[in-house]
Order: sequence, then C-alpha cells, then structure tokens
Amino acid sequence: MEQPTKDWWRQAVVYQVYPRSFADSNGDGIGDLPGITSRVPYLTRLGVDAVWLSPFYPSALADGGYDVDDHRDVDPKIGTLEQFDELVAALHGAGIKLVVDIVPNHSSNRHRWFQAALAAGPGSPERERYVFRRGGGEHGELPPSDWTAMFGGSAWEPVGDGDWYLHLFAPEQPDWNWDHPDVRADHLQTLRFWADRGVDGFRIDVANALTKDLSEPLPTTAELDGLVDGAHRYLDRDEVHEVYAEWRKLFDQYDPPRTAVAEAWVPAHRRARYASPEGLGQAFNFDLLKADFAADAFREIVTDNLRFAADAGSSSTWVLSNHDVVRHASRYALPAGADQNAWLLSNGTDPAPDTAGGLRRARAATAFILALPGSTYLYQGEELGLVEVADLPAEDLQDPTWLRSQGEEKGRDGCRVPLPWTAEGSSHGFGPGGSHLPQPAWFADVAVDRQDGVEGSTLEFYRQALAARRRLRTTEDLTWLPSAPDVVSFSRPGGWTVLTNAGTEPVDVPAGELVLASGPLDGDRVPPDTTVWVQA
Ligand code: NOJ
Ligand code: CA
Repeated sequence: MEQPTKDWWRQAVVYQVYPRSFADSNGDGIGDLPGITSRVPYLTRLGVDAVWLSPFYPSALADGGYDVDDHRDVDPKIGTLEQFDELVAALHGAGIKLVVDIVPNHSSNRHRWFQAALAAGPGSPERERYVFRRGGGEHGELPPSDWTAMFGGSAWEPVGDGDWYLHLFAPEQPDWNWDHPDVRADHLQTLRFWADRGVDGFRIDVANALTKDLSEPLPTTAELDGLVDGAHRYLDRDEVHEVYAEWRKLFDQYDPPRTAVAEAWVPAHRRARYASPEGLGQAFNFDLLKADFAADAFREIVTDNLRFAADAGSSSTWVLSNHDVVRHASRYALPAGADQNAWLLSNGTDPAPDTAGGLRRARAATAFILALPGSTYLYQGEELGLVEVADLPAEDLQDPTWLRSQGEEKGRDGCRVPLPWTAEGSSHGFGPGGSHLPQPAWFADVAVDRQDGVEGSTLEFYRQALAARRRLRTTEDLTWLPSAPDVVSFSRPGGWTVLTNAGTEPVDVPAGELVLASGPLDGDRVPPDTTVWVQA
C-alpha cells in the first residue's frame, strides 16, 4: 500500500544530495543543478521517494553553502533558477519529491542586510536584524561574553566600531535576530518562494537555535551549560515553536501541505514539539549516529523513538550518515568508542579500520533501519558502500571546523568528496573536469559502473532493499520478537520478519521466503553482522 499523498513523508526514503559533490555538468569541478537533473534516472532506478537538496543558494562557501547570501536565488556557480525549475520538473516527472534546506539561524556576512548593518553603524535599525552588542572592557575591546562558536573560537566578532556580532557558527555566518519582524517576514517569503516553485518539503537547519534571550547580564559558558529544558539562552527555547506554528499555517495552505523536518540536536524528550503537526511535523533522530552496532542499543533506540514520534503525532526518522558525520561504513570499521577525530587526524590509519567488517555492518544496519516504520534519510554515496576519505591532505580541506580549530578537528570534508560514477575517465565520471576535493584511487573499485548489475554489490543491495521496502511499508506497526542475545528481531504486518545478527555466532534464518539479505548467508544460517528480511 502506497502512502496517501498528503502523508507521503511518513515512511519515505529521502536521499540527500550534497549539490557541489554529486555531478558536475560543465567540468568546473563543482557539482551543479544540471548535473543532478542528468542523474534523475539513477535516482529512479535506486528507488528513492524524495531528494533532500543541501543548500544551493548563492554563497562564498565559508561553510559549504550553509552561509547563504540570498535565500531566494541559485548560486551562479551551480546553476540558475530556470535550471532549478528543470530539476523540479525532472524529479516530479519521475515521481520523486523534493525537499530543500532552509538555513534560518544565520545568513552569510555577504547578505545585503548584513552589509547594510555594517554600513549603518552602532545603534542603527539595520543592526537590529542581527545580534549586535557593545564589547566589554574600557574601549569595547572584549567580546560581550565568553561564548564559543560551534566551529571553534569566540562566538562574537568585532566590527571595528565597538560593536560585536553573534555567530554561533563561523564568523561568516552572523545570527539573525528572530525578535525582529523583518526577519520573520523575510523567512515566510523565502518558504513561499520555494513552495510556489513546487518544492514539497523543507529541512530546517539548526532548528533549535533561532530564538534567543540575550537580556543582560549574559551568562558565562559555564552557567549556560547548566541551563536545560528551555532555560538555555540560545538553544531549544520554547518560543521557537511560535515561529514554526506560523510556518505550519503557511505549509498547510498548499495541497498537499508542505512538509518539514527539524535538524535539532536536542534531548529526545524535547524533540516532540519540533515534530508535532502544529509545528514542523517531523524531527531528525540522530541517536544511531552515536550508537555502536549492537542489538541492545538498536532495540532501545527504536523503542524510544517510535514512542517519541507517536507521542508527537509524527513518524520517526532514521539516519546513519549525512554530510556532517563520518560515513557509517567507516564508523562501524572502528572499535566501539574509538575517537573518530583522532582517527581522521591519523589519516585513517590509527586505529587500523576493519574495512570489510565495517561495510558488512553498514549494510546490515541499513537493512535494519529500512525495515522500520518511519522515514529513512540516506546520504549520497552510501549506496556505493563509500567509506570516509580519511586521508585528504591538509591543504585541500575546506571545512571551517578544520580552519577554525587550528588543525585540532579534521572536519567533515571526508564524507563530501565528489561521487565516483565511473571507474575510468576524468574525475571518475563526476564531470568532464576535475573535482573540488581530490578523489582517492580506490574510488575506481566502488564506482557506479563497477557495481551496476553486479549481484551482491552494495548498489544492487540498496536497489533491492528499496524495492522490497515498498511492499513492506504498509502500516506503521512493529512487534518485537524474542531473540538470542546480540540478535534483534521484529515483525511487520504482512508476514514480514526482520532479523539482525550483531553477535559472533550464526543464527537460523526465520521461517518464510527470504526477500533480502544484507550479505552472503551461511546455508540457512544468518552470519554475524548480517540482516535478513523474510516474508511468510
Ligand atoms: C547544520 C548543517 O548540517 C551543517 O553542515 C552546518 O555547518 C551547520 N548546521 C551550520 O549551518
Ligand atoms: Ca559545475
């Protein structure tokens, strides 16, 4: 049974495209919109329900496009509005929905309103749209507080006239003042702009940080750390939901209503309001990004999140990889609890990754989440079994995390390397020219054309799983089944049994017809690190 149109998102498979690293049509080394359009047949063949497009707006790329100069345009480096319309038409023609990224916590420092604020000077109405404060010390030479930015360094930047502005991320990303009516109105206009162009849904960046209480005195970082459940000065404040209630009214003016998913790194019990039907409607659950490949952890995370989603009136989300984290085939190749940043700084050598085991576990975990009720968010390249490119040379790194941490945090470039489409040819088929991040030689072995039609390849496994999932996602019910230690198993309506063996010994394949196996079976036994779907 397919989802009724307005509920298409509840059990969708959403494929994240990081535009600059997907496909390059003109050979300038940067992926672009025509490149994505040219790959719609690939996405159709893969079997995804929707594409989530990371930012494609004009940007100096200080943070991979999350520094937006103009939220109602396309970056000329990657296309035009007409080419955006062509992409929408191609996706819709293939029955694929489109979700775009909205970045409402900050603009870029090149945004016309930020430039106007700088020009207008202290105390001006133009500065009110952002968060300017006088500096401390005798001459304003000290930041207004000791707060640190997510990418390192102070969260305040001086502008040379005694004023400082707040940036929770890079200095090129000044935070908006959400108490300002212009800021609210402008974002409504942005949402309407894209919804009118046929966009089906929105992924809301840092959805938990928009509204802030910056009344004096500002607390210290140490004091902030103790402020939880809505009491923090800039994270997860209750009044942020007033913003989303307004957005929801706009989304519901469309048919079908536009959807939204919150990127909000909040404790699980605070997720419900973001996910409620009066708010954004759905929220990311990132619990699996922090969990080991372990049956107990999987069972607990699924139980909790199905309950949280049901309480919120939403469906759950499942994520193993995205553009901000080490690819899951690499995470599962490291010993439990390994320091991923230290591993990246060692260029992926220390500890030595168990690459084959990592991929086995990654495929098993993917098959596990694809069988769950709720929506699954896939990240480009995971269907090829890509691991992190952990040995990118320092001089090629682009992530502000690396640049702002003085080399202490290697950052996220290793999961953002342009995709290998072909084993041979320029930039492995990414485009007719080079690639904005260097591709490793091993990309040839995992390129799309090496896996296409090859039984047992990761690409064919994903295609098979997505096709079978269309039959499996009937209702949103799940029943846990008793299982051996280190094994997790559940049933879904329609006679489906799913079993993941996270232990060290093989276990019996459940009775019924085998529909999917994440790896080779051992006769009628499920080997360790393997998931099976069986239908009675
Ligand atoms: C979350 C995005 O996923 C990340 O890539 C970005 O750096 C921050 N938000 C800031 O916009
Ligand atoms: Ca290009």
